[in-house]
Amino acid sequence: MAALNGAVENGQPDRKVPLPRPLRSLEVKYTKIFINNEWHESTSGKKFPTYNPSTLEKICDVEEGDKPDVDNAVEAAKAAFQRGAPWRQMDALSRGRLLHKLADLLERDRVILATLETMDTGKPFLQAYFIDLEGCIKTLRYYAGWADKIQGRTIPVDENFVCFTRHEPMGVCGAITPWNFPLLMLVWKMAPALCCGNTLVIKPAEQTPLTSLYIGSLIKEVGFPPGVVNIVPGYGPTAGAAISTHHSIDKIAFTGSTKVGKLIKEAASKSNLKRVTLELGGKNPCIVCADADLDLAVECAHQGVFFNQGQCCTAASRVFVEEQIYPEFVKRSVEYAKKRLVGDPFDARTEQGPQIDQNQFDKILELIESGKKEGAKLECGGLAIEDRGLFIKPTVFSEVTDNMRIAKEEIFGPVQPIMKFKSIEEVIRRANSTEYGLTAAVFTKNLDRALTLASALQSGTVWINCYNALYAQAPFGGFKMSGNGRELGEYALAEYTEVKTVTIKLSQKSP
Ligand code: NAI
Ligand code: MG
Repeated sequence: MAALNGAVENGQPDRKVPLPRPLRSLEVKYTKIFINNEWHESTSGKKFPTYNPSTLEKICDVEEGDKPDVDNAVEAAKAAFQRGAPWRQMDALSRGRLLHKLADLLERDRVILATLETMDTGKPFLQAYFIDLEGCIKTLRYYAGWADKIQGRTIPVDENFVCFTRHEPMGVCGAITPWNFPLLMLVWKMAPALCCGNTLVIKPAEQTPLTSLYIGSLIKEVGFPPGVVNIVPGYGPTAGAAISTHHSIDKIAFTGSTKVGKLIKEAASKSNLKRVTLELGGKNPCIVCADADLDLAVECAHQGVFFNQGQCCTAASRVFVEEQIYPEFVKRSVEYAKKRLVGDPFDARTEQGPQIDQNQFDKILELIESGKKEGAKLECGGLAIEDRGLFIKPTVFSEVTDNMRIAKEEIFGPVQPIMKFKSIEEVIRRANSTEYGLTAAVFTKNLDRALTLASALQSGTVWINCYNALYAQAPFGGFKMSGNGRELGEYALAEYTEVKTVTIKLSQKSP
């Protein structure tokens, strides 16, 4: 996420830029289902709690959407997409202006949104403010610029025909988002969907609905026509499944676990073959060659795995280090991990907050135990922080081998497994021997090695001498089981448009 903001270097905000104070006593205003620019209670009358993972206190109850609420949201989104509806009649440039206005309101309410995100996720406020919100604003502005530039082509056929393409919106798009970057993952889907002229039904993760609901209030304030954006908070197997199985939803974009990604694709194929884009797990190799700038590589590998409490699909969770520098790399990585400040996410010095919930906390500790049992060397951490809820000590394992679970499974926590390699051919084979293929990073000063690795690694992104350098204008997505399709950049436009070929026979034959 680093490069989503000029004030951020490798996932670390620049502390020279002043950080505003979070709003310690923020009242949560939006907890209902947002359909047709209005707030609704759930059809069932049920609500569900959302918690602050750093205190384990309940923040508030939120209306619990389920199939009937999703049906209502889809009806609204369908009506907003009808021929003749204001959204369809709107000039494409005006659609772009609405997205710019939304970005303006995110800038205005940036402290509120960053505070809400920190309360609901436990991520450091510094990060929420500088990285998550910056990424949202830039992504909205980037796609605002695209709205009036999505053009088809004129295609030469024979002289008696004119043939051209139109890149049309798909219709009603579903978006199911995760809890690690709740607002950013919503914007990655919403901005391209709207710039292409689609309408939306969004289901935020049950752990973190608050910033998504706040966006509903901004959508209304900006003046998007009713029904263009609808937000239904609720659980995955109920509200989420109602979206993935819905016959009137034309496309679905999902970020989350590979397990649920498979369920969504299956539901799409069993219902109406809706288009599906998936951004799923990763077990991302970070390869450090002996000639690398060691200070840079150690810092990037550290930030790459520990950023966002390790809860990143891009996490550098398999670090391969060339044998000559292995002891030194491990020593310095342990020093970094021991210095990492874990604590109150509202404290501006804090680098690491709590894990999102008990399930994730238990999963991470169980994987740490497996690492110990399978013979990896625990260099530091390895435990929860006592009496402090869901906080886990930054953990480094050395002497990790490829067959260990910590080297194979997505940990999604503050755990750095470090492996050793001897040759480039060997590390290519080992890096690629995973079912995932989201990101990879390479640290070397040798251009030939860098480019050889960039071409050989099977992953959607390869970072050379940097980490988490994500830009709104550069595509992001996975090879293999890390997903289908791409988000961000011009490439994402193809995921939100259908190509229509129009062929016209001319009435007169040429002489
Ligand atoms: P999850 O995949 O269950 O949650 C993501 C979203 O999917 C949430 O909005 C959830 O409500 C929804 N969902 C769950 N079941 C669904 C269903 N049957 N139909 C439709 N939507 C459904 O992920 P979970 O259980 O919270 O985390 C498990 C693991 O997944 C993590 O430990 C991590 O390894 C991975 N993960 C990866 C993410 C990424 O950024 N790629 C984000 C979150 C989790
Ligand atoms: Mg929460």
